[in-house]
Amino acid sequence: MKFPKDFIWGSATSAYQVEGGVENSDWSIDFSTCQSCDHYNRYEEDFTLLEELNQNAYRFSLEWSRIEPQKSCINELEIEHYRKVLQSLKSRNIKTMVTLHHFTTPYWIKWSDPSAVFYFSRFAKVVFKEYADLVDYWVVINEPLVYASQSYYKGIWTPQKKSLFSFLKVVNNQISACRKVYQDFHCLKQDVQVGIAKNNVFFEPYKSLLDKFSASMARYFWNDYFLNKVKNHLDFIGLNYYFHSKIKFPFSVQNENRIVSDIGWEIYPQGIYHVLKELKKYNLPIFITENGLADEKDRHRKEFIENHLYWVGKAIKQGVDVRGYFHWSLMDNFEWEKGFKPRFGLVEIDYRTLERRIRSSAYYYAKVCGSNQL
Ligand code: FCB
Repeated sequence: MKFPKDFIWGSATSAYQVEGGVENSDWSIDFSTCQSCDHYNRYEEDFTLLEELNQNAYRFSLEWSRIEPQKSCINELEIEHYRKVLQSLKSRNIKTMVTLHHFTTPYWIKWSDPSAVFYFSRFAKVVFKEYADLVDYWVVINEPLVYASQSYYKGIWTPQKKSLFSFLKVVNNQISACRKVYQDFHCLKQDVQVGIAKNNVFFEPYKSLLDKFSASMARYFWNDYFLNKVKNHLDFIGLNYYFHSKIKFPFSVQNENRIVSDIGWEIYPQGIYHVLKELKKYNLPIFITENGLADEKDRHRKEFIENHLYWVGKAIKQGVDVRGYFHWSLMDNFEWEKGFKPRFGLVEIDYRTLERRIRSSAYYYAKVCGSNQL
């Protein structure tokens, strides 16, 4: 199975999960990551691994709380840091995809407050003016609904709110922020590429007509609602695919879970095909911005990659405009409320010595990246 010419092959990380030493974010108070993978200092070494693994693209995020630790104070040293990171990638001919909001914010931001739109878009403009020539693709917000529900509805992530009203306010502010950043960037530069990374689920009805109704409701609210609101302000859609849900009326999940990852997430490769086909209606280029699994012993990762890519290839053959694939993640990292236990990396991290060890599945993926085929 051949992939289109110029297909982009890479892997993804986010600042808070890999950098270590973040002090002024809203997460730093509850879940300090200490040194984490120390990617902040070891990015050159990590980019050498990317090259060794034949990847030609890297998705990562800028830690807003480093760049603007106090309201309206820009830390020029951090601006220079990320410039060096971007320059290093460019010098290695690696395409850059930069996320502006990947779950963490400076501690002084609250997304339920409309002022977040102002501060976030101001931050976005600051970094755009610095890095416009070094960034190939901008991802404005990562998984907006996951963030809004974990932080403001379920109360799991900081600021641990449990309120439907706050959740809705956050979503509304995220929609405004996406539109504003898209407009600002396009005013500043014509040929810029701006998108979001959306976590979409393959909702499958369990059996009955009522189950079918529930599945389509779930699809409407979780997969389509946000995209419908921002679709005229996107140059591409980023898809993060992890989940399949077999829905029984009203909203219970009846998965068979035949194969699961270390953290119990079902491995269901054909779901990515269905979700991609659903996205076709937006008529926008699509990147798989995340797809991966927790698998410490590397038992399922090779097959996971192979099978998911098979279904991506099939969607492409049927006319879905997929332009690239980013595996989550380049290296083991901090998995939010689950801590350091889940191992999502193509590269294993020894957290005592910070030594990097390439897992064998990563060599398989490298072959795919290098040959542009399965
Ligand atoms: C996604 C997140 C990413 C990572 C993976 C496992 O929802 O975007 O940061 O935690 O899940």
